[in-house]
Amino acid sequence: MSSESKKNYIVQPGGSFKGSIRVPGDKSISHRSIMLGSLAEGVTEVTGFLEGEDALATLASFRAMGVQIDGPKEGKVTIHGVGMKGLKAPKEDVYLGNSGTSIRLLSGLLAGQQFTSTLTGDKSLSGRPMRRVTDPLALMGAVIDSNDGKPPLLIKAGNKLTAITYKLPMASAQVKSCILLAGMYAEGTTTVTEPGPTRDHTERMLSGMGYQVEVQGDTVSIEGGGKLTATNIDVPADISSATFFMVGAAISEGSDLTLTHVGVNPTRIGVINILRLMGADISLSNEKMTGGEPVADIRIKYAPLKGINIPEDQVPLAIDEFPALFVAAACAEGQTVLTGAEELRVKESDRIQAMADGLQILGVDAQSTTDGIIINGGVIGSGEVESHDDHRIAMSFAIAGLQAGGTIQINDCANVATSFPNFVELANEVGLDIDEIDE
Ligand code: S3P
Repeated sequence: MSSESKKNYIVQPGGSFKGSIRVPGDKSISHRSIMLGSLAEGVTEVTGFLEGEDALATLASFRAMGVQIDGPKEGKVTIHGVGMKGLKAPKEDVYLGNSGTSIRLLSGLLAGQQFTSTLTGDKSLSGRPMRRVTDPLALMGAVIDSNDGKPPLLIKAGNKLTAITYKLPMASAQVKSCILLAGMYAEGTTTVTEPGPTRDHTERMLSGMGYQVEVQGDTVSIEGGGKLTATNIDVPADISSATFFMVGAAISEGSDLTLTHVGVNPTRIGVINILRLMGADISLSNEKMTGGEPVADIRIKYAPLKGINIPEDQVPLAIDEFPALFVAAACAEGQTVLTGAEELRVKESDRIQAMADGLQILGVDAQSTTDGIIINGGVIGSGEVESHDDHRIAMSFAIAGLQAGGTIQINDCANVATSFPNFVELANEVGLDIDEIDE
């Protein structure tokens, strides 16, 4: 497991991004492919599956609940679905590592089972808020014990679930998905309203597997008691992983990089919208649909960036991309202001503080605010920064090296393996001078 080995990155300054690469599969869609494929009737073939620790934790948890899953081998996974009522009690606690998506979606799905289960995670996951899922699940009739609102979650067996109509207090696809998955096991029609659009991969995959989901504006409804039919799922490349390369190309003169077969679901493209507002030169080609999800090749060429006020409606659409976008802001001319992003404080780390602290160490004028950050673009220097065991913080500071005045050392980067196991290899391939040092 990543947390047992300590890895630091050493990034030499300079370089630019050139070439064409495909980054690994979408993490959100990979999780959902295992969950829904396991509950389906029939055999689901997944291609492009992310072989990162988070999605593998989900895979292992369904194996532990009696589902035969072959692979992953070169991104291919075969899931022998057991049907809506076919899961078996896991013999041990279900360990979900660093993965918030696994624990929050599974809590909804397991609330409807006839067996008790306990969900645990690593140090970071054990500190993350779970009331956002246990509160609505309790309203549905689930009985879940937690450690003062944090993992482990003990989900008690055999409670009859009843549909609810629920207004999400925060824009969260994990909470929305959790409630929809529980809704499949509830009596009646469960309805969730979100404050703004969040990623809709759950809704798309449910529909693709023949489970009716009704979407009307900001409201999603699902009726309990339906079934899922196995289908083949082609997982697009993860736009959140592509982001590090998009930002790298946007900030380094001479860059011209193409990222192929990237998922460009409208609920995920905040990073493209924000970078374009900053002046980035981004074009999409080969746009098509695969398995109900839009994909495209993204080409990004260097162009000077300017600071902006980030529109708040883009925040949920770029929620995982802000650490990298802060690096873009550090390289832009003028001031960038982010507001309405307090959710960033409860991710794998407090991403506002982690980035503000690291950017300051590198000589950038970055000030955290309660719900965002203010960054004055300038010169990136050199220094030693902490990733706080957060994969996206580690990769963001890595690409800052392209514009740095000297070497950047980034500590505790092992968790990059949760979402992007071949990051160092691909980054070196397209033009970053980065080494991984084991401690
Ligand atoms: C995810 C939803 C987002 C995101 C996370 C993956 C998902 O979390 O940050 O990386 O797959 O549903 P929130 O729902 O907490 O915003």
